[in-house]
Amino acid sequence: MTESLATVAYIGATVLFILSLGGLAKPETARRGNLFGMIGMTIAVLATVLGPRVTAAGVPWIVGSLVVGGAIGLFAAKKVQMTQMPELVALMHSLVGLAACPVGFASYVDTSTVFPTPAEKVIHEVEVYIGILIGAVTFSGSVIAFGKLSGKIGGKPLLLPARHWLNLAALLVVLWLGRVFLNAHDVASGMTPLLIMTVIALLFGIHMVMAIGGADMPVVVSMLNSYSGWAAAATGFMLSNDLLIVTGALVGSSGAILSYIMCRAMNRNFISVIAGGFGGGAPAPAAAGGAAQPQGEVTPVSAVETAELLKEAKNVVIVPGYGMAVAQAQHVVNEITKILRAKGVNVRFGIHPVAGRMPGHMNVLLAEAKVPYDIVLEMDEINEDFPETDVSMVIGANDIVNPAAQEDPSSPIAGMPVLEVWKAKTSIVMKRSMASGYAGVDNPLFYKENNRMLFGDAKKMLDEVLAALNAG
Ligand code: TAP
Repeated sequence: MTESLATVAYIGATVLFILSLGGLAKPETARRGNLFGMIGMTIAVLATVLGPRVTAAGVPWIVGSLVVGGAIGLFAAKKVQMTQMPELVALMHSLVGLAACPVGFASYVDTSTVFPTPAEKVIHEVEVYIGILIGAVTFSGSVIAFGKLSGKIGGKPLLLPARHWLNLAALLVVLWLGRVFLNAHDVASGMTPLLIMTVIALLFGIHMVMAIGGADMPVVVSMLNSYSGWAAAATGFMLSNDLLIVTGALVGSSGAILSYIMCRAMNRNFISVIAGGFGGGAPAPAAAGGAAQPQGEVTPVSAVETAELLKEAKNVVIVPGYGMAVAQAQHVVNEITKILRAKGVNVRFGIHPVAGRMPGHMNVLLAEAKVPYDIVLEMDEINEDFPETDVSMVIGANDIVNPAAQEDPSSPIAGMPVLEVWKAKTSIVMKRSMASGYAGVDNPLFYKENNRMLFGDAKKMLDEVLAALNAG
């Protein structure tokens, strides 16, 4: 393939990636968006492998790597549960970061490139330094995020004494090492500052994510998504690959926008999330944190009674959460929705921006079960309708419907916008026990007078509700 044909293919792939992102913005067009992305990536890989910069001797290596990497990806995609998706995404981010590091070192030690001017050599070395820096932070941060999301590492923030000073000192040392690196006369003397900086960046990535509390993890996931994009863009600079630069910038900027949206959804300041220390994840510190503990008794309800309440209602709002994903209850939720709508009940869904464990988690599950998109509403679109709602049905959600976020300023989730399900005439919460959610805080909703608890696995309980609806 000639240079100009490869360039045309790269431009085509870039357009497809932009169309893909545009398509992913809405559930109705997400499938098409994915298709554009897949076609774009196929063109990009083919144009790179068949392009002028790959020699015949390199092809077997690339094909071998594609087969091994593709097989691992296929196996992981087939094996992973929907509830493990965020962990998988975190691992993938870590691989992008990891890849940037050896590319950076290889690009530095490769002395075959001749730079026409000293300035161009400096620019290349800056690219190498920044590329490895971002790559190392992304790699270690994503590995820790994986640990936290999979429960292998506790959600409680690790708050080292003087942590902000530690971070500042690390930044200053990295800047100083950068200066030493750029002034180095040969590869051997530049290697020492580069290696020390890599170790500092790895430690910084670990520290940054360890200091972030459980409830703020959504922001971390989207932030690492953004970092992985910038790491890819940096790799593109080092390899002089325009497509990688554009693709990395697309991922980096869309991840940054997503982080901003997440912060707004959680009512958090981005800088304070990154600085760490918000939203203690473990139940024990949250309970001991001075937050007033909810008092009173809960009122259990049976599946048959739930079916009666739903049948008699005119307006029903269903609020799904992480538990629906765990129970895989989305299909039976759709069945119940169909029956109620056939009876003339106005059924709608309220989706919190951080429901579940990844952005858009609930939308994906409901789309998979073929729930019509037009009855699936965002939190802001539905929140003021709760006072006119007869039954709000919470399926495996907890933090996103916790009134303590509004009522208790000492709560670890104080200020986070929530779905106001308790304003409905009756709310029904479906979960297995009185256990807390991801943020580890108790939920006063359970004790409210108009609230009923339907205890049990969401899928099992909804099957019983469906049977009762069909019977009567
Ligand atoms: P959570 O607050 O985590 O609550 C989920 C509830 O589901 C739990 O209290 C659990 O109670 C119940 N549950 C679990 N398995 C169940 C099953 N099989 N059947 C019925 N119930 C089940 O979830 P949420 O309300 O969706 O809130 C999301 C939380 O995750 C927020 O704190 C958010 O910050 C955090 N988070 C979100 C993301 C993104 S990007 N969305 C990423 C990381 C973290 P039982 O154990 O009693 O059943």
